[in-house]
Amino acid sequence: MTPAPYGLLAEVTHQCPLHCLYCSNPLELRQRDEEIGTEDWLRVIREAADLGVVQVHFSGGEPLVRGDLAELVAEARGCELYTNLITSGLGFTEERAKSLVAAGLNSVQLSIQGDTAEASELVAATRRFDKKREAARIIIDSGLPLNMNVVLHRLNLDRLDAIIGVCESWGAERLELANTQYYGWGLRNRDLLLPSREQLGAAEEVYHRRKAELAGRMELLWILPDYYEPYPKPCMGGWARTALTVAPDGSVYPCPVAADIDTLDFPSVLAHPLDWIWAKSPAFQEYRGTDWMPDPCRSCSRKEIDFGGCRCQAYALTGDASRTDPVCTFSPDHHLVQDAVDRANETSGAAPEPVYRRPRAAAE
Ligand code: SF4
Ligand code: FES
Repeated sequence: MTPAPYGLLAEVTHQCPLHCLYCSNPLELRQRDEEIGTEDWLRVIREAADLGVVQVHFSGGEPLVRGDLAELVAEARGCELYTNLITSGLGFTEERAKSLVAAGLNSVQLSIQGDTAEASELVAATRRFDKKREAARIIIDSGLPLNMNVVLHRLNLDRLDAIIGVCESWGAERLELANTQYYGWGLRNRDLLLPSREQLGAAEEVYHRRKAELAGRMELLWILPDYYEPYPKPCMGGWARTALTVAPDGSVYPCPVAADIDTLDFPSVLAHPLDWIWAKSPAFQEYRGTDWMPDPCRSCSRKEIDFGGCRCQAYALTGDASRTDPVCTFSPDHHLVQDAVDRANETSGAAPEPVYRRPRAAAE
């Protein structure tokens, strides 16, 4: 018996008003006319609940772009699922808040890119910082817990104290400080975004000091920068082990980035029920557990701890998703990570130009 997944990431759209340098959506974005409709999403939510899922994270892109979001939240609550909205805050008006609260939404995670409009513009090519502040106010006035998220990198790590200060002043209960992951779009901007060891060390000190000062008022979480770790992260808790992602067009993946692995044929909710996809589809079985592992993972004592790291990172860096994550010191491909780290710690050289994320139609 395959254990049930715990969480569903419902990526209801890839449309987004931001253009972040580290966008975690796949390289090939799904267009508006490719999105599945309300009835299909309602069925997916019911099937997820039947499968054993207990939490649904409504994400994107910007999920508020979809006019049926409250209907989807209500369906999830009707199935007794915990519901969380992951949003840039752009479009989170009083009216949307009312309808989402009425639908039973449990929590909101609001992202910021920096502590000022200028810092936001540098990362996301939009200055609408005031809209985010307004969204935070509306979230709190609605009685919803305000969780916040900031992706950290070379361009904003030196401002960490000020960033934490902004989240504190906006009333956040919890702040996730997520160091950038370098696959998908983030890999394109790696030399711009990867911090130096010294910069990261200074930021980590700020994190520990502020965590102690804020204890009991605001919870701080530090998501490790894996390029500076000796072993990889246990990405997604292991392939197809605890969660699944449904993309805007109904394709289903073990994680939000896996769509970029074009050596696997990912199933769709339009062709198969979710329980078959989870338990039986070849793409979900491919890297589940430890039997698929090559050496050095196969004979490593950590294989049940990190599951060989991240399949998407292995694919992005080596072109083979079955290889040991190159972050690992034991990986034969570790030089691919070490070379980037060495470049980030050189003191000379001009910073590369930023490559902003744009929707395909706009880019064309
Ligand atoms: Fe993890 Fe594989 Fe590295 Fe061992 S060899 S630490 S299992 S990635
Ligand atoms: Fe896909 Fe790590 S992001 S397995």
